[in-house]
Amino acid sequence: MSFLEKLNERYATKAMNGKKVPQEKIDNILEAIRLAPTSSGLQPFEVLVITNDEVKAKIKEVAFNQPQITDCSHLLVFAAWDNYTEERINYIFDLTNKIRGFKNEGLEAHRQFLLAVYLKQDAETNFQHAAKQTYIAFMAGIAQAVYEEVDSTPMEGFDPNALDKILNLKEKGLRSTLLLPLGYRDSEKDWLVNLQKVRKSMKDLVTVID
Ligand SMILES: Cc1cc2nc3c(=O)[nH]c(=O)nc-3n(C[C@H](O)[C@H](O)[C@H](O)COP(=O)(O)O)c2cc1C
Repeated sequence: MSFLEKLNERYATKAMNGKKVPQEKIDNILEAIRLAPTSSGLQPFEVLVITNDEVKAKIKEVAFNQPQITDCSHLLVFAAWDNYTEERINYIFDLTNKIRGFKNEGLEAHRQFLLAVYLKQDAETNFQHAAKQTYIAFMAGIAQAVYEEVDSTPMEGFDPNALDKILNLKEKGLRSTLLLPLGYRDSEKDWLVNLQKVRKSMKDLVTVID
C-alpha cells in the first residue's frame, strides 16, 4: 500500500480496546521516531514509553480524562530539552565524529555557530525550538504505526506542567510536548471511526509561485 493510501487510512482514534501491541511493532515505531530529521541533527528530545497502568491513570487525570490514555497499549510521551547546553550540543557533534571516524571542518564550524547562537538565547526560546523538533518525530511515529497496523491518537490535550511533575521530567531537564497513545481501535465506541476525513482543498492549502 502506498504512503498516501496509508495516510488516508489513519485517523485520530478516539476509543481503544486495551489489546497489547507486540513489542516488535512498538520497536519499529520508535525506530521511525529515532530516524526523523531534526534541526542540525540535535534530536533535542526524549521519548518515554509508558505501559504502567497506575502511571497511565495519573496521566489521564491531567489530560481531560481522554480514555485512549488508559485504553491504549503503550503511551508515548515526547519530551523536549528544556534548554540547549554546551554538553547537549557537543554530545551530538562528538557522536557524529565518532561514528564517521573523522573530523570535518564545516561541521566543526557549525558546532561553534550553534554554541554561539543557542547558548546566548534564553531557555524558553531554546525549549520552543526543541519542542518543534518533537512534532516532526511524532509524525514519523504516527506514519510508521499505520504500517504496523497499529492505531494512534496524536495528543496535545493535556497539562504539560502537571505531566512533567508526574514523570519527574524537570529533574531530567525535559518538558513534555506531546502524547501518542498506541493501540487498537474499539470500533463500537469510536465515534470517528466511520466518518469521512475532512481536509481543506489543495487550492486553499497550496500557492504555486512559478
Ligand atoms: C498536535 C496535535 C494534537 C492533537 N490533540 C488531540 C487530543 O488531545 N485529543 C484527540 O482526541 N485528538 C487530538 N488530535 C487529533 C486531531 O483532532 C485530528 O488529527 C484532526 O481532527 C484530523 O483528524 P484525523 O487525524 O482523524 O484525520 C491532535 C492532533 C494533532 C496533530
